[in-house]
Amino acid sequence: MTDVQAFYGRWARLYDAVASLPFVGSWRARAVESLALSPGETIVEMGCGTGANVPHLRERVSPGGTVLGIDLTREMVDQARHHPDRAGDGVHYVQGDAARPPVTDADAVLATFVAGLFPDPEPVVDRWCDTVGPGGRVALLNFQRSEAAAAAPLNVAFEGFVRLSSPGSRLARDSQATAFERRVRAARERLAERTVDRRYETLAGGYLGLLSGRVA
Ligand SMILES: C[S@@+](CC[C@H](N)C(=O)[O-])C[C@H]1O[C@@H](n2cnc3c(N)ncnc32)[C@H](O)[C@@H]1O
Repeated sequence: MTDVQAFYGRWARLYDAVASLPFVGSWRARAVESLALSPGETIVEMGCGTGANVPHLRERVSPGGTVLGIDLTREMVDQARHHPDRAGDGVHYVQGDAARPPVTDADAVLATFVAGLFPDPEPVVDRWCDTVGPGGRVALLNFQRSEAAAAAPLNVAFEGFVRLSSPGSRLARDSQATAFERRVRAARERLAERTVDRRYETLAGGYLGLLSGRVA
């Protein structure tokens, strides 16, 4: 069992309660909107967790579309499967490694709050882009320290948040946040290299960054 599985396995229920809060839902809706999904398409969510994005995704690809959620942690996938509005026709979950996704063809890929968990994000983003192929869309939503001047005190809270919500928290608070941000930056840079028609926007007062694009 990996650190990720041990951590998210232990906290799956609590994670789901936080992940399902209404204000988080508005961020999720925006991330899904950025993919410009159409009915009948196939969307793969990498690191889908407890499936909180799935109702938004299913609404966009219905009728006839497919939502496939992939997550490493069985307890997270179990939470998703047992939610009445996150399961059913056209929705599938696989317990698997999003770094090597067990799928070769999709119209779009979504990864929310996941990119910072990969020690080596560039090849992972490459595989996601290869999964959708030219013309396919990929979107990454992640927390970050805000650059707004008034945000300095809250950035300390961000560092604590990253430490609490990251598996294998052996580094100091600031180093953990720095490592997390380096990974997110690397994932975004690779997505930027691989895509056209990109759009970057911040949400939640700058504490969230959403990058989406179409694979070249
Ligand atoms: C912070 S949660 C985000 C969950 C979901 N995307 C959301 O927005 O609520 C991170 C999730 O990524 C999953 N995860 C981490 N590394 C993974 C990997 N290599 N493959 C698949 N899932 C992974 C964890 O199990 C966890 O469910």
